[in-house]
Order: sequence, then C-alpha cells, then structure tokens
Amino acid sequence: MRQTLSYTILLCTGLLLGTSCTHEPLNPIDPNPIDTTGNGSRVCDPDTVYFQQEVLPLIVSSCAMSGCHDAASAQEGVVLTSYTSIMNTGDVKAGQPNNSELYEVLVETNPNKIMPPPPASLTAAQIQLIKTWIQQGAQNNSCESGCDTTAYTFSSTIQPMMQNFCVGCHAGATASAYVQLDSHAGVVAALSNNRLMGAVTHQTGYAAMPPSGNGLTDCQIRQLELWVAAGAPNN
Ligand code: HEC
Repeated sequence: MRQTLSYTILLCTGLLLGTSCTHEPLNPIDPNPIDTTGNGSRVCDPDTVYFQQEVLPLIVSSCAMSGCHDAASAQEGVVLTSYTSIMNTGDVKAGQPNNSELYEVLVETNPNKIMPPPPASLTAAQIQLIKTWIQQGAQNNSCESGCDTTAYTFSSTIQPMMQNFCVGCHAGATASAYVQLDSHAGVVAALSNNRLMGAVTHQTGYAAMPPSGNGLTDCQIRQLELWVAAGAPNN
C-alpha cells in the first residue's frame, strides 16, 4: 500500500515535471527568442505589437496629457501612464478588443464618447495597433530592435518617433507649451535654444519629455542627435 502510494507520488511528480517542461516557453503568443545581448528582452518580431515600445508611448501621448488621464488629473478615475494603471482600469480584456472599453472608445461613433475627444484623434493605424495588442493578449511585453543609427531621415525615423511619443500633446493650436511637433517646421522650431534636445535628454532647466511613461531610448536620442547634426533636413 505504502509502496503503491509512493509510486503514485513519483508518477505524479514525474508527470508534473514533464508537463512543466513541455509547456516551455511560458509565453505562447510571443514565441520569439530572448535576444543575445543578455538583458532578457526579446528580439522584435514584426508580427507582434509590443506594449513598452509601441502601445504605452502612444497611450501616454494621446491620453495621459494634463487634464485628461495623467496621474494628477485622472478623469473618470482613469489613469493611463503605465501597464499597471492601464490594466487596473478594468477596461482591457485580454484577447477581446470588442469587449475592451479602451478599444471601444477609440472606434465609438458618438462624438460625445469618442476618445481622444475631437479635434484630437488617433489614426486608423494607431487604433489597429491597440486592437492587435489586445488581441494578442494585452501583455506587458517588450522587445529589443537593436540600434540602427544609420537610419535617421525625417520621414523614416524622426517623424514616426514624434508621432508615437509626442504629437498627442504637441499638435495644432492647443499644443502644450506651444511646441508643435506634427510638422517638420514645428520640430525644427522646437530645436531652438536646445529645447527639444534638453527636454528629451532630461537636462536641468527643461521639462523632461515625455512627462510620463518611457522616455526615448538612447538609440532614439542618438538618431535625433545625428539628424540634428546633419542640419535637421526634411528628407
Ligand atoms: C502627455 C503630454 C506630453 C507628451 C507625451 C509630451 N509632452 Fe512635451 N510638453 C508637455 C507639457 C505639458 C509641456 C509644458 C511643461 C512645462 O512647461 O512644465 C511640454 C513641454 C515641452 C517642451 C518645452 C520644454 C521646455 O522646458 O522648454 C518641449 C521641447 C517638448 N515638450 C517636447 C516634447 C517631445 C520631443 C516629446 C516626445 C518625445 C514630448 N514633448 C511629449 C506635454 C507633453
């Protein structure tokens, strides 16, 4: 009897161990390998949407401006400045964008309910990005693209960077600090007095930008520096 029991226990342990092994990797939706730089993040897979690199900057610049969903304002109790605060709203149901308030407000047809409130708006591509992220499991995922400092034209690198990280707060007549980053001319104007570079590199005397969420990466700052050193062309 005792022997049978211990065999059973052994068998179960074996099964458990076996099961845990066959379930590696733990993350079935994001099966791309850990990168070789050893910092634990993943090599960017073009078919995966990454929260840290793509979704958070977009949400911070489109929703977490002062007066809206930053920690101080928290309109309707909603704070959208980090993975935890975004998931704590209960407005994201992993795998179910059509059940997720965070996505529904973006495609809302009622002008009083759509987010961000007009005249601000997200592009179709930005809305799709958030939808895909929710469909893929709404994870707090991150990836390492490697730094391509040979790529720093305005159209390929600088403009998309501004679009993703800054334009939500810095466009049109209501732009924060009158800094308009939705055009080449606007970005060039913001370079004067070292304002833009001072802000993104968190120098003393400048407001640190973006004000919440992730800052620009060292690679992005290097790309900006190289573009500025090349004369900030509209290329
Ligand atoms: C969530 C809204 C928000 C986002 C996102 C944001 N900004 Fe700002 N920005 C502000 C506000 C508000 C101010 C005014 C802050 C102040 O004066 O304290 C400001 C000020 C600035 C200034 C003037 C700084 C100074 O000290 O003169 C620059 C330049 C700037 N932002 C650039 C950027 C850039 C570049 C990005 C993207 C990388 C960005 N901002 C992202 C809200 C934002």
